Amino acid sequence: MFSAGTDTTFTTLEWTLSELIKHPPAMKKLQQEATIIAEGRSTILEQDLEKMQYLKAVVKESMRLHTPVPLIPRETTEGVELMGYDIPVGTQVLVNVWAIGRDPTVWEDSNKFRPERFLDNSTEYKSLHYDWLPFGAGRRGCPGIQFATTIIELALANMVHKFDFELPNGVKNEDIDMSETYGITVHKKSSLITGGCESAILVVAHKRY
Ligand code: HEM
Repeated sequence: MFSAGTDTTFTTLEWTLSELIKHPPAMKKLQQEATIIAEGRSTILEQDLEKMQYLKAVVKESMRLHTPVPLIPRETTEGVELMGYDIPVGTQVLVNVWAIGRDPTVWEDSNKFRPERFLDNSTEYKSLHYDWLPFGAGRRGCPGIQFATTIIELALANMVHKFDFELPNGVKNEDIDMSETYGITVHKKSSLITGGCESAILVVAHKRY
């Protein structure tokens, strides 16, 4: 429960912040939304989140591209024929959520970060949208969806509301390394903020409020 709930949340925040720093127009749009919702307050509260439609779209889009749990295991309870293959009962199946989220036949410009695709659209975390499954599906689907999305949205909203992020001298948006490494969840190979590893980018954050 501890690793299911912490590593996933942390890695989602790091991927999302990286995408926003890489895409300044999206960052600006989110900061504008935060400024309007906060109405002069320095802190975004949990009750503000339901009004932050762009924030929700940003997190969903980030989780489409960087799903923390890319392979979900299942076992068939009966034999089935699927796309010409006979799959016997008791077969272990790995659902490739990473590939499903980037399927170009479903998602236009599937490798691009475009939060707008989740605006005015009914895709919810716990739903029957089998083309986007960051929290899995069915009875074994993640029980922490509500908690995780609230924590991620609240943390992200406050980070972008309270700070402007700037890359260090000479580093361009396209230099941010978005390669992945796999442990319990899929992490950024080079950390965005902590200076611990050689290729980490130490982002400078300026206080806004
Ligand atoms: C971004 C955050 C998170 C993501 C992406 C995520 C994703 C997932 C996925 C894909 C599964 C497997 C679902 C399936 O088999 O269909 C899962 C299971 C699980 N998650 Fe999460 N999770 C997150 C946060 C959390 C949090 C915050 C908690 C608890 C506080 C939590 C608790 C669990 C537990 C207990 C299971 C196992 C459920 C079972 O096997 O019956 N998760 N999660």
